Amino acid sequence: MHPARKPVMAGNWKMHKGIHETGGFVRELVHGLKAHQSPVTAEVVIAPVFTALAVALQAVWGSPIKVAAQNCHWEEAGAFTGEISAAMLKEVGVGHVILGHSERRQYFGETDATVNGRLKAALAAHLVPIFCIGELIDQRRAGETERVLERQLTDGLAGLDAAALATLIVAYEPVWAIGTGEVATPEQAQAAHAFIRGWLEKNRGAALAGTTRLLYGGSAKPDNVAEILACPDVDGCLIGGASLKAENFLPMVEAAG
Ligand code: PGA
Repeated sequence: MHPARKPVMAGNWKMHKGIHETGGFVRELVHGLKAHQSPVTAEVVIAPVFTALAVALQAVWGSPIKVAAQNCHWEEAGAFTGEISAAMLKEVGVGHVILGHSERRQYFGETDATVNGRLKAALAAHLVPIFCIGELIDQRRAGETERVLERQLTDGLAGLDAAALATLIVAYEPVWAIGTGEVATPEQAQAAHAFIRGWLEKNRGAALAGTTRLLYGGSAKPDNVAEILACPDVDGCLIGGASLKAENFLPMVEAAG
């Protein structure tokens, strides 16, 4: 991690925990963070399901924990059954939004172009996007990792200049590591993160590349988080399974400083 970039430890709860469970769990997290001997310096973000956002926001009140949504639409309003706009999330009090997660790409037809539209809408509504990219196992085996990341960055961030992307957070999540228990090695994570930072520098300038937080995601757990966070271009983690229990999530937050 780099001292100029505040680490981010984000929990992606996916389709887990309804209103009741969220309230109790967030209170447990707030209490757990307060009980730490040294104050936690990482930015802590949790991403509950849409129906539990309001209850999560209530429960984090007065604590440093921030609340994210897991998606938003590119239009402000309209005939888009099942979708939610960035302004609607903003209205409920949400500050961050996860976009382009591989499960959205894999199961719900999300493309680089739709992610780009969602990103633009999120930024216009002053939501902090956590923009997810990453390669499939076949792409890695074929030596195409950098080509895939380059395409996802080029198309996903199209039309957004450095000023527009000032708050951007990128999550590198190799798809083969998500929910599989197979974590990228620190060397693999660092190589991908260095490539992403290099792409940002080349295409949006050194200032943005130097300040953008890059998170690793994919089977991050208490027992592997330290070595991942030790990579110079890793500024935190996007955590799925291990974010669902305080006994796993809290030590990971603590490991980030
Ligand atoms: P995982 O999920 O930590 O369960 O692998 C990460 C993610 O999907 O963001």
